Amino acid sequence: MPRKKVTMVGAGNVGATAAQRIVEQGWADVVLVDVVEGLPQGKGLDMLESGPILGFDSQIVGRNEYRETADSDLVIVTAGIARRPGMSRDDLLKTNMGIMDNVIKEVTRYSPNCILFIVSNPVDAMVYQAYKLSRFPKNRVVGMAGILDTGRMRTFIARELNVSVEDVQALVLGGHGDTMVPLVRYTSVGGIPLERWLPKEKIDAIVQRTRDGGGEIVNYLKTGSAYYAPAAAVLQMTEAILLDKKRVLPCIAYLEGEYGIHDLYIGVPVVLGAGGVEKVIEIALSPEEKTELTRSAQAVREQINAMKALDKTLA
Ligand code: LAC
Repeated sequence: MPRKKVTMVGAGNVGATAAQRIVEQGWADVVLVDVVEGLPQGKGLDMLESGPILGFDSQIVGRNEYRETADSDLVIVTAGIARRPGMSRDDLLKTNMGIMDNVIKEVTRYSPNCILFIVSNPVDAMVYQAYKLSRFPKNRVVGMAGILDTGRMRTFIARELNVSVEDVQALVLGGHGDTMVPLVRYTSVGGIPLERWLPKEKIDAIVQRTRDGGGEIVNYLKTGSAYYAPAAAVLQMTEAILLDKKRVLPCIAYLEGEYGIHDLYIGVPVVLGAGGVEKVIEIALSPEEKTELTRSAQAVREQINAMKALDKTLA
């Protein structure tokens, strides 16, 4: 069977790091696309030349246009500007909308049957835009945020308790922003609810640090935002899709009434497999959790309204 084909749009920190992680697994050939002349070619060739040393045969090429991306199984979009200190993810909206518009035109032209996987920020709005512009069925358009946010939360819990990260399970719902909803009630360590391990103040501090997790990295890096953990999250979703793992993961999915939310992309637990979002999982929320999710949905809705005001074709 021929190898699967993945296109990575954007050869910046997230795109290049995720492309590296994917090609090293050997599951798929990768086309790395970026508008900057020489950048995807150089990074792609450099990664290819690591193959003999690391022992992978999958191919990677870099291109400035999309012809060679034709018939990709999966297209991952990381293109866009990243946050700098003092910027929120919303500040990126206008610039990244324009970039996304062009990317989606090219992707749908060359890979009309792909799964479209959006990473660019502000991600909930960008996935919605990609869904509307592509006219793909909702299951074939998905976004990444929850795995990154839960990855951060799991890290903080494991460090606090001095236990393995592998035994920490967490769930974060909602938009990828200040209103995200870390669900403490559905967070456990070795199957034991987090509330049995830590007092409320410690848990509250972990929840807040999770919400601020992206900003914490931006403040250190100053010239950009996180990419190692985001790229790891991209790899996990790529594996679930290419290998049809049917993983249960928090992803950004289109809601049509689930959680009382309509016509919005937002973070929820899903079954992720070869069909993309094969199922949205609806869990029972307490009244407080529901209020927080509604507030988060409202924040995402405001971004989408701002986007619709800028681009009438989305309305
Ligand atoms: C973060 C940015 C990339 O959470 O959204 O790090």
